Amino acid sequence: MEAVKASLSSQPFSSTLNVDVEGGLDISSGRKKVIWPRKSLSKVASARLQSSTVWSSKELAKFSLPAVTGGRQGSSVGMHIRANAAQIMDDVAAPPREEMTIVDVDLGDRSYPIYIGKGLLNQPELLQNHVHGKKVLIVTNSTIAPLYLDRVIASLKDGGNKVEVESVILPDGEQYKSMEVLMKVYDKAIETRMDRRCTFIALGGGVIGDMCGYAAASYLRGVNFIQIPTTLMAQVDSSVGGKTGVNHPLGKNMIGAFYQPQCVLVDTETLNTLPDRELASGVAEVIKYGLIRDADFFEWQEENMEKILARDTSTLVYAVKRSCENKAAVVAADEREAGLRATLNLGHTFGHAIETGTGYGNWLHGEAVGAGTIMAADMSLRLGWIDKDLFNRILSITMRAKLPIEPPSSMDVQLFKSIMAVDKKVADGLLRLILLKGPLGNCVFTADYDVKALEDTLRHFCKS
Ligand SMILES: NC(=O)c1ccc[n+]([C@@H]2O[C@H](COP(=O)([O-])OP(=O)(O)OC[C@H]3O[C@@H](n4cnc5c(N)ncnc54)[C@H](O)[C@@H]3O)[C@@H](O)[C@H]2O)c1
Ligand SMILES: [Zn+2]
Repeated sequence: MEAVKASLSSQPFSSTLNVDVEGGLDISSGRKKVIWPRKSLSKVASARLQSSTVWSSKELAKFSLPAVTGGRQGSSVGMHIRANAAQIMDDVAAPPREEMTIVDVDLGDRSYPIYIGKGLLNQPELLQNHVHGKKVLIVTNSTIAPLYLDRVIASLKDGGNKVEVESVILPDGEQYKSMEVLMKVYDKAIETRMDRRCTFIALGGGVIGDMCGYAAASYLRGVNFIQIPTTLMAQVDSSVGGKTGVNHPLGKNMIGAFYQPQCVLVDTETLNTLPDRELASGVAEVIKYGLIRDADFFEWQEENMEKILARDTSTLVYAVKRSCENKAAVVAADEREAGLRATLNLGHTFGHAIETGTGYGNWLHGEAVGAGTIMAADMSLRLGWIDKDLFNRILSITMRAKLPIEPPSSMDVQLFKSIMAVDKKVADGLLRLILLKGPLGNCVFTADYDVKALEDTLRHFCKS
């Protein structure tokens, strides 16, 4: 596989940016070379985050991503984009072998590429280049195995590649994202003598990705790990950024680790077998990126929502690419969630309350996030932080995405409050929320809001 670096001449970057208004850190970028002193940025960002609970991600977004330009979908094909612009990007002219976009997650010596394109499971070298050692364990589930397992095994062994491939097929469902089921992965790994140089491959949605990632992080204190996400949710969100783990009976994702993969391989063709409801669930996270940090991307979605839902190939590739760029930029700046990374949870505090209140599995994660985002937008509107026009746009795109715009009638104010009180983002007794503030593409992570607005929002959406 040849990583092709694209010319930046067609990718306008904002030339100067004041990332930290108080700290006064200026970052300059040129057209052909973009140099971002990431260490100093992180230092300033985290210092600021510790000193204040309010954080706007607008400037970071504008700096770290190329602006969306005309002919977006076609022009992105085969480009190699550093989502964190820490590296120097030069013009390189070689064309890509096949249509593929690469987004890099820049985490120093743990950096890794996200390959995005249609039919990438049929490009064996992509996987083979990232498999170290001679043993591979594929972790998947009973729904995905009949669809894609053989293809992944064939890809790994293509060209007579001498690699021993084992697989473990877990039951399908969020209720199996548990320590007990995770044991099956360790059992298989030990039975088949997976050694320190082996590679675990997650083939599936977010449940499989989180579980396999945690198994890889803990087996023999850490083995190589590759993500092959097969849901839109996993392709645009969960496979990127290194959060892995399982649920505990007393709480979701309570046991886990930060553990980064060697690469993420997104074959958008796998979305063709995904049920409509699961596809819409993933769209909720796509909308999120537009709202918290990427106004251009939101506007693109307003033009292209129906094409996304119709699974138009180039539209999907672009939606995944742009989402991964946003996630990668946030993760590169704040891997361990000192603050900025929390903005990825827009709508999630209300959403988690819905998921918990209705019982896991009844509402899909993205469905709960969709309704939760409307609630966060409603509260932002009540606080006077966004205008009615923006609120209506959010409502409209959520409806077009076929996502719910209100919680189920079983949720009452008290239930919301009791579940939200144990949210991970409660600090010193105050619930910190991600709210929208200012024009499209701006958000804050804050506990500094009028509690009456929260009360009013809950009352507005609940019957009692
Ligand atoms: N690590 C993170 O940063 C992060 C972020 C967001 C969500 N998550 C986690 O991700 C999980 C949700 O992920 P999800 O929405 O992908 O759900 P999922 O993994 O349960 O997959 C949804 C359903 O689609 C099926 N499926 C997957 N790919 C398919 C395909 N190509 N064709 C047909 N069916 C397919 C699955 O078998 C499952 O039934 C949750 O556990 C959540 O906590 C993690
Ligand atoms: Zn989410």
